[in-house]
Amino acid sequence: MSNKATYLNDELFGYLTENFGCDDEILTELKAKAIEAELPQIWVSPDQGKFLQVYLKSIRAKNILEVGTLVGYSAIVMAKALPEDGKIITIEKNEKFADFAESMIEKFGFSNKIEIVRSNARKWVRENEYSEYFDFAFIDADKPGYKVYLDEITPMLKKGGVFAADNAFAFGFLLNTAPERNPDKVRSMLSFNKYFRDYPGYDVSLVSIGDGLLLGVKE
Ligand code: DHB
Ligand code: MG
Repeated sequence: MSNKATYLNDELFGYLTENFGCDDEILTELKAKAIEAELPQIWVSPDQGKFLQVYLKSIRAKNILEVGTLVGYSAIVMAKALPEDGKIITIEKNEKFADFAESMIEKFGFSNKIEIVRSNARKWVRENEYSEYFDFAFIDADKPGYKVYLDEITPMLKKGGVFAADNAFAFGFLLNTAPERNPDKVRSMLSFNKYFRDYPGYDVSLVSIGDGLLLGVKE
């Protein structure tokens, strides 16, 4: 029994990602191309990717909604864990990111499973009505908008579906009262963590993986 987590030093993190990471040839190439194209390297960590794959398989997820495609890394990671008829709708407002992700999704043969919607995600969730349709929602962009996404996407999730939000530790600055980077995003995450924890109809866990992953099951 312990009340403390094991601190992941660089050596343990190296062991974790080398042995239990999701990066195969495709994902390694995608990252190399994204770096070459000078796109932001803020994708989920390889161990978090593997966790998402195992988790999605365990809940037999079929329909996924993602907010924030970026380079397409997490969409492809998740698509690999879906059945043949599984589908991901991923929303991206930045044309440059969407163009890059689309080319990768085509190149690696995931166009049948992943649809990129080029839109402002807050607008999209307000205008689209899916009723108890998605098994899993993964929110990873527009930190100040997380509350809007939770409010708007909750009716779109099946009962037993899962709302997942990345960056619960706010890039490590969550408890820093004067963060040197992204103070607005940090404040948004601190506020959202509490909002989601106390949200009616969910049981929520903050999983200490990557930069912190909130997972809430809709009851
Ligand atoms: C940032 C955003 C992310 O979603 C992430 O996982 C890491 C960093 C950022 O905006 O800096
Ligand atoms: Mg993130």
